[in-house]
Amino acid sequence: MSPNPSFISLLFLLVSLPLSSSDLAKPGCPTKCGNVAVPYPFGIGEGSGCSFDKLFEVTCNDSFAPPRLFVPAADIEIVEIRNDTVRIKNMIASACYDPIGRVTSTSAASINLADTPFSVSDANMLTLVGCDDVFLMLGYMGRNFSSGCASLCSNKEDLIEGECSGIGCAQSNIPKGFRAFVSSIRSLQNHVNISSFDPCGYAFLGDPESFVFSASDLSDPSFLNRTRDNVPMILDWEINGVDNCSACHGNTICVDSATGLGGYRCSCLEGYQGNPYLTPGCTDIDECRGNPCDPNGICTNLGGSYSCSCRKGFRGDGVKDGKGCIAKSKSQTTKLSLGIGFGFLTMIVGIIVLILGMKKRKVIKQREKFFQQNGGALLNQQLSSNETSVKSTKIFTAAELEKATNNYAEDRVLGKGGYGTVYKGILHDHQVVAVKKSKVMDQTQIEQFINEVIILTQINHRNVVKLLGCCLETEVPLLVYEFVSNDTLFHHIHHSGGMPWFSWDSRLRIAAEAAGALSYLHSSAGMPIIHRDVKSPNILLDEYYTAKIADFGASRLVPINQTMVSTLVQGTLGYLDPEYFHTGQLTEKSDVYSFGVVLAELMTTRKPLSTTKNDQEKSLATFFVVALKEDRLFQIVDPRVLREGSMKQIQEVAELVKRCLKMNSENRPTMKEVAMELEGLRKLSKHPWTQQQAEEEVVPLMIEQSDLYAVPMSSGFTTNEYSRNHLDSRMIHPISSPR
Ligand SMILES: *[C@@H]1O[C@H](CO)[C@@H](O)[C@H](O)[C@H]1NC(C)=O
Ligand SMILES: *[C@@H]1O[C@H](CO)[C@@H](O)[C@H](O)[C@H]1NC(C)=O
Repeated sequence: MSPNPSFISLLFLLVSLPLSSSDLAKPGCPTKCGNVAVPYPFGIGEGSGCSFDKLFEVTCNDSFAPPRLFVPAADIEIVEIRNDTVRIKNMIASACYDPIGRVTSTSAASINLADTPFSVSDANMLTLVGCDDVFLMLGYMGRNFSSGCASLCSNKEDLIEGECSGIGCAQSNIPKGFRAFVSSIRSLQNHVNISSFDPCGYAFLGDPESFVFSASDLSDPSFLNRTRDNVPMILDWEINGVDNCSACHGNTICVDSATGLGGYRCSCLEGYQGNPYLTPGCTDIDECRGNPCDPNGICTNLGGSYSCSCRKGFRGDGVKDGKGCIAKSKSQTTKLSLGIGFGFLTMIVGIIVLILGMKKRKVIKQREKFFQQNGGALLNQQLSSNETSVKSTKIFTAAELEKATNNYAEDRVLGKGGYGTVYKGILHDHQVVAVKKSKVMDQTQIEQFINEVIILTQINHRNVVKLLGCCLETEVPLLVYEFVSNDTLFHHIHHSGGMPWFSWDSRLRIAAEAAGALSYLHSSAGMPIIHRDVKSPNILLDEYYTAKIADFGASRLVPINQTMVSTLVQGTLGYLDPEYFHTGQLTEKSDVYSFGVVLAELMTTRKPLSTTKNDQEKSLATFFVVALKEDRLFQIVDPRVLREGSMKQIQEVAELVKRCLKMNSENRPTMKEVAMELEGLRKLSKHPWTQQQAEEEVVPLMIEQSDLYAVPMSSGFTTNEYSRNHLDSRMIHPISSPR
C-alpha cells in the first residue's frame, strides 16, 4: 500500500504562448522589420527563400524610419503579425462637402487580397462616422456579401460621447472569409445644414477595440490620418490549399481555418511551444521551472505536461490548487475560512455582472429608439442582418461589365425605362446577364438604387428576377440580374403574333405565377413590398416561359404597422390605380389594380392604352368593365382564349378582372385571393372530371347571373369547347362533345 499517491495532472494551456524571438524566423533570415516582428511562414525579401512560399513574402522598406513592412502582392502595410491574424494600415472611405453641398474631397476604400494568404477578419466592424451618410460595402472573392450602415443626425447636441450608436457614428458586424471588397460612401443631403459641425463622412473596416467615437471627430480635419494610423484592419491568414498539412512540423496539430476558404493553420500541441511552421516543430515546455506544484511537492516534467507528487511525510496530490501536500496533523480551520471568503467574492462578482447587464440593456434600448427615429436603420438592418439572402450577391468591376456589354453598345440594349437602360451582357465565363444602368446619378437615383438592392436582396422567389450583383465603382450604379431570355409578357401579348405556346393554359399559368409572386411580396414577413409598377412589360419570361417579376426601382417597403403610405405618384399610365392617382395614398391594392389590367390584357390581347380607339375604348380597364356590363365579354376576348378556355374559366377570370379594377380599392380582392383564385382556375382545366362536377353545381348560379354573359345558355350545355368554325363570325355556339 502506498501512503503517498501521486497524480498526473494535465494542465491545459488555453492561450498559445507568444513566440520568443529565437524561433521566429527561418535561420539566417531577418526576424524584424522596424518594430514589426516577422515570424515564419512570413519571410522578408522577394525570392529570398525566407518565407514558406511566395504568398508569404513581405518586403521591408528601409527608407522609412523606422522601416515599414509591406505586402507587395496587395499593396498593404502590415503593422503587426500575430498567431493567426495580421493588423494592417487601414484605408478609409471619405467624402467632404462645402456648405452648399459641393464635394470638396473624397477617398476610397477597397482591398484585393488575391494571391495572398490573407482574408478580411470578422473581428473588424464596419464603422461609419458622419451625420448624413450611407455606407455600402460589397465583399467578394470567397464569400460574397453586402453590408451597410447609415448614420444621421441634425444637431451636434444629439451626439453621444464615446458611443457609436447610430447618431453620428454607426457600426455593423461583417462576416469573415472574403478576400476583397469595394465600398461606397454617399450622403443623402450632401451635409447641407450640418457642415458647420460635420463637413465630412468617413467609413472604414477596422478593429473596434482601437476606435472610440468622439463628438469632436466630426469636425476634426486630422480624423482621416489619425484613424488610418491608429485603427488597424484585421486580416486572418492561413496556409492556402490542401496539401496534407505539410507546413506543420513535429508536436503540432493542423487546424482547418475557420474562414471557409479551404486553408489551414498549425499550432503547437498543448504543453509545447515554438514556431509550428519551422522544422523540427514545437518543443516541450519545461513547466517545472516555475514550480507549479505545492511548495512541499515534487514536480516532474513530462512531454507536454508535468506531474506533481508530495515529499515524504506529506500526503495529497501535490497540486498547488488541488489538495496540495498536507502534513498529517494539520487543522481544517483554514479551509473553512477560505470557503466563506469564496462565497462572499462570488456574491460581489454576481452583483457586478447584474449591474453591467442592466446598463448594457439600457444602452441597447436607447440605440433602438434612435434608430427608429432616424429611419436610417432601414438600410442597416436590411443590408446587414439579412445574412442568408445576401450571400449570393456578387460584385462586378466596371471593366468587367464594360467588356460584357461591349462597352454598352446600342445593339445590346434590352430595354429602356424611367430609371435607366438595361443591356445584355456576356460575362467571361459565358454567363449571360442583364445589366441595368441607371440614368445620371442624382439623389433620387441613389435612393432608388439602394431601394432596389435592399428589396431584391431580401427576395428569393422563383417568379421574381434574381439580382446577381452590382457594381459600385462607376459614377452611375449598375445592377446585374439574371438574364431572362424570352422577352416581356407585353411583347408576347402584343407583338409576337400568337406563338403556339401562348395558349390559354400558359396565360393562366403566367398570370397565376405573377400573382403568386406579388402576393409573396405583399405578405413578406418583415416589410411588405408594394411593387408600384406592375405591368406586362415588367413581367419577363424565361426559356421555359416562366414568369419573372422585374424592375423594383419604384417599389416601396411598407412598415408592418402601416397599411398606407403617402408618396409621389409613380407608375405607368394605363396600369395606374386611379384611386392612388387621385389621393396619393399607396396601398397594396394599387398593385392589384395594375395586375387586373395585365389580366385583361392577357384575355383580350389589347393594349392598356389604345391610341386609335375612341375615348371610351382608350383605356383597356374602362373598355373591359364597360364590355362586361354590356354583356359583350365574348366579343372582346381573344379568339384563341375562347377556343381553348372553358367558359367557366373565362367568365371567372373576367369577374376577377372586374373586381381588381374596382374604383374603390377596398372592394378589390387582395393579391393573395387573386393568386389563389387563379391557381384554382388552373386546376379546373387540368382535371376535366372535377371541372364538370364543379360546373354542374354552379349552373343555377350562372343562369342567375346570365346578364353578365353574352352566351345563350342552351340546355344540354355540358362542355366548354367552342367550335373553331364558328369563331370568325364571333358567334358562340357551344357544342356538346364529351371529353
Ligand atoms: C520605399 O519607399 C519609398 C517611399 O515611399 C519608395 O520611393 C521606394 O521605392 C520604396 N523602396 C522599395 C524598395 O520599395
Ligand atoms: C436646410 O435648412 C433650411 C432651413 O431650416 C431648410 O429649408 C432646408 O430644406 C434644409 N436643407 C436641407 C437640404 O435639408
